[in-house]
Amino acid sequence: MYSLPSSEFAARRRAVMDAIGEDGIAIFVAPPARTRSNDTAYRYRPSSDILYLSGFREAETVLVLAPGHGDGEFAMFVPSRDPLHEMWEGRRAGPEGARANYAADAAFAIDELDAVLPRYLQGRKTLYYTLGNDSAFDARVTGWMNKLRHRRNAPPAAPGSLADARDIVHELRVFKSAAELDLMRAAARLSSQAHVLAMEQCRPGMHEYELQAIIEYHFRRHGAEFPAYTTIVGGGANATILHYTENRDRLEADQVVLIDAGCELSFYAGDITRSFPVSGKFTPAQRDVYQAVLEVQIAAIEDVRPGVAYNILQQNTARRLTQALIDLGLLRGPLDELVAAEKYKKYYPHNVGHWLGIDVHDVGSYYDPQGRWRALRPAMVLTIEPGIYITHDDEDAPVELRGLGIRIEDNIVVTETGYENMTIDCPKQIAQIEERIGTA
Ligand code: GLY
Ligand code: MN
Ligand code: MN
Repeated sequence: MYSLPSSEFAARRRAVMDAIGEDGIAIFVAPPARTRSNDTAYRYRPSSDILYLSGFREAETVLVLAPGHGDGEFAMFVPSRDPLHEMWEGRRAGPEGARANYAADAAFAIDELDAVLPRYLQGRKTLYYTLGNDSAFDARVTGWMNKLRHRRNAPPAAPGSLADARDIVHELRVFKSAAELDLMRAAARLSSQAHVLAMEQCRPGMHEYELQAIIEYHFRRHGAEFPAYTTIVGGGANATILHYTENRDRLEADQVVLIDAGCELSFYAGDITRSFPVSGKFTPAQRDVYQAVLEVQIAAIEDVRPGVAYNILQQNTARRLTQALIDLGLLRGPLDELVAAEKYKKYYPHNVGHWLGIDVHDVGSYYDPQGRWRALRPAMVLTIEPGIYITHDDEDAPVELRGLGIRIEDNIVVTETGYENMTIDCPKQIAQIEERIGTA
């Protein structure tokens, strides 16, 4: 399920080819599947850059962009058709399918790589290839380069310089097209619905994994290929472990449960966090912390508009959270000094958010080419997700606040005039949440 028109993939490849020029060649490699245990593999997640450039999903594929090449400028090397393999492991497109369905100008079996790829490298000045992901493939690339350099009966024809194709592709990926935004809205909607179901079905005595199951059932039932990341369901002190994924414990009536879950729909991620009282009613202390985080989160979303530098979002959030931590009795001292000394990091150790897209922590620089924090521009998508986490053994914290983690996370698109909250349907006001918990 990756429903974008082929013209969109073609436009993306065109943009990359225009950036690298006719002296350049770019190579993208989809890794093999990984073993999970003995002889069974993890379900394969297609390579994000190859998805972005072609929609192709098979492992062990190489995509080549060689602008203006006589044999066609878009070549693919893919697993070959093999009835026995396909009977056991699933269908393959094969080179013919790559040409017919993925618009490759030329397509080959992956086994032909050594024989054919040097033809594409030959005579190009710059090779755009990412070193360091796969040392065996790196060695093959250097082998082809050496062969082209040390030819006996012809002048050297190896690219003389190496660049990283990620700089080009990942910059393109920072800005989402209208069709991508539609897919992301659908992922956001499905993710929101799943959170609501978890709120409605939550009861004291349930286990964290039951809420995980409710959420992931909804994702898969509506066609999401995967959760976009491992679902986090942490009750009480478990919510203070930022990437808690054991999801094994019983949920008690006096706890707040933090759920960070999003689906990957059409290979675009949703990424939502909600925190709510297992019993359906916050204690006064929990309520104070929740309301503080909520106000900071809403203020951060209100900061989103074109021209605002990314670090301003971070700085404003750190300052507002520091004030909240003072008000809650968790930090003591003058605001400016506490902010300067980054004392908030004890309770808020992460950033305000991240790019969101085909990868949940989506690619793309947070800096401009001059090395300054970049300004937001329309069609960027980011999360806003402040939190406060108070560990169970924090002797500086009031007893009633210990073992409490609150994070609230939404998915935001920068628009021409400000922002659009794609996860607006997921309740977060205290009254809205409390009236839903345990009602199903
Ligand atoms: N779910 C990972 C994150 O919020 O960044
Ligand atoms: Mn998240
Ligand atoms: Mn996130």
